[in-house]
Amino acid sequence: MEQRVGFIVWLTGMSGAGKSTLSGLLRQRLETERSIERLDGDEVRTWLSKGLTFSREDREENVRRIGYVARLLAKHGVGVLTAAISPYRASREEVRHLATEAGIPFIEIYVQASLDALIARDVKGLYKKALAGEIQHFTGVSDPYEAPESPELVVHSDSETVEASLGRILDLLRARGLLGPTASAA
Ligand code: ADX
Repeated sequence: MEQRVGFIVWLTGMSGAGKSTLSGLLRQRLETERSIERLDGDEVRTWLSKGLTFSREDREENVRRIGYVARLLAKHGVGVLTAAISPYRASREEVRHLATEAGIPFIEIYVQASLDALIARDVKGLYKKALAGEIQHFTGVSDPYEAPESPELVVHSDSETVEASLGRILDLLRARGLLGPTASAA
């Protein structure tokens, strides 16, 4: 049975940086031409990683689970978009390694925004709570975020429009031969 090549687009970045927004728009843009699935941090923590905390160990476990499901899907030709903070470089490298080993293209995208911008935006009101000490171990405030050293792409959600970021991601996927002709017209 002929099947399209699956892939994993791994979005990483701090809470509120725009990972979910971007992956949602990407899915909309791509799902008319191919199978797409999205593994979003908040949703994964409801259905797949319920009960995991935000300790280093549990965040690594969360990332491992997302990587595992992403590989299963990608192996069957699905384009997988993941959107979890995934703050630790080592665990991102581990999922990259396992994907690559399985012959699955792995595209790491750093969704970057300055902490000041994230605090100003604070869509979920969590930075305010974290800064007030009401949430412990909050990424970027009282817990580490290890920025990728050589991601396939960095998008800057505090200085470029969502459409521009989206366009650059689509360009990259196209350059890697992962998009069909219909998405190129987008
Ligand atoms: S990860 O670190 O394990 O990759 P994940 O993406 O699943 O994190 O979940 C992050 C979301 O959980 C944030 O967007 C935020 O809504 C919520 N959250 C609750 N507590 C924390 C915390 N201590 N640090 C970061 N995010 C938190």
